[in-house]
Amino acid sequence: MYLTKSEEKAVSGEHGRALELAYRVLLAIGRLSNAEKLIPIKWAHVSGVSYLTIGDYGLDFLRGISKEKNAKFRVFTTVNPCGMDIENWDCLDIPADYAEKQLRIINAYEKLGIASSFTCIPFESYKVPVRGTHVSWAESSAAIYANSILDLRTNRESAVSALASALTGKTVYSELHIDENRKPTIAIKVNLGRVFKGSLDFGILGYFAGKRTKGVVQFRGIPSTNSIDESKALCAALGTVGSTGMFTVGNSSNLETIDFSKKDYEEIFDNISDSETGEAVVFGCPQMTIEELYRLSKAVRGKKFKRKCIVFCSSKIYELAKSRGYAEAIEHSGAVFVRDSCADFTPLISSLNVDSVTTDSVKGAHYMKSVHGVKVALKNVESIVEENTS
Ligand code: F3S
Repeated sequence: MYLTKSEEKAVSGEHGRALELAYRVLLAIGRLSNAEKLIPIKWAHVSGVSYLTIGDYGLDFLRGISKEKNAKFRVFTTVNPCGMDIENWDCLDIPADYAEKQLRIINAYEKLGIASSFTCIPFESYKVPVRGTHVSWAESSAAIYANSILDLRTNRESAVSALASALTGKTVYSELHIDENRKPTIAIKVNLGRVFKGSLDFGILGYFAGKRTKGVVQFRGIPSTNSIDESKALCAALGTVGSTGMFTVGNSSNLETIDFSKKDYEEIFDNISDSETGEAVVFGCPQMTIEELYRLSKAVRGKKFKRKCIVFCSSKIYELAKSRGYAEAIEHSGAVFVRDSCADFTPLISSLNVDSVTTDSVKGAHYMKSVHGVKVALKNVESIVEENTS
């Protein structure tokens, strides 16, 4: 792989240990993918923030890197949700030793120069660069959204490769950074015999597509103008299973086509949703957008949750919801906001001490089952509110 003189010096350690490691990571990925060079990026989005997922090894690694000479993020860098509400963790049954380690992880990222985003939907709160801009985003749902909806260029980065990109300001010129690799290679034709609509439908479709396809997938028979929330649900579920990094909506000829029928829908649904009801309600995987909070605030106005209800969103979105009166209406219903945290990779779900939860998220259902061992009732937001409030 071609390296500039400056990149060669960095690989040999002349610019410090942090840059040496970061360039070596990119070089290894570049060689594996037969990339010709590295390219500059405008935005890195790093994952690997929750102590629940990276543990002591990740914490020590980040703290070590943050103390190295020249260890600074060289491009605008946002971070995924962490494993607790940073402000209110002590009111939410988070163990103190866990919180301390989580705060040390955040401190290491802050030393490196993050924007304190703590969100898996960074496109909702920050100005998105012009179409075609190269970025390096970890968090599969965000990377798929970047490629498919925002027309940015990113591969599905890992926590380590996105960190290397943040430190160097570069990424490997491969796969979805190259225009010819962004064409669909397989199509899925949706035919449920009814109108295809709402985040739950899009989530189920994404899960089906993730299981059945690799490479760029084209969807047929779905509206081309989806809401942010529907697109977000599709991207999240698509990234949960399988390796696809991008989709299109269209009708290209000459593509192998898989049908997505009512029977396929029901099979996926039954596979994910293994409970009729949940003992608690969880909203916000990916974290909730301002539009979702608006709709939830309207749905719960004048009602009270009969069960514990937790709503995950970023601090930025919470503050916006507060300024518009949505947060107050939701809190008045008894729901509790958990800010800046991941809905699935937090000890909070286990500490609820429930055997089942209700959620509207396919991705959330997948991870709450596998990480916390709870059963899941998967429903749309309207049904959840109707069944769980009085
Ligand atoms: Fe976001 Fe965590 Fe779900 S990062 S997409 S809330 S698994």
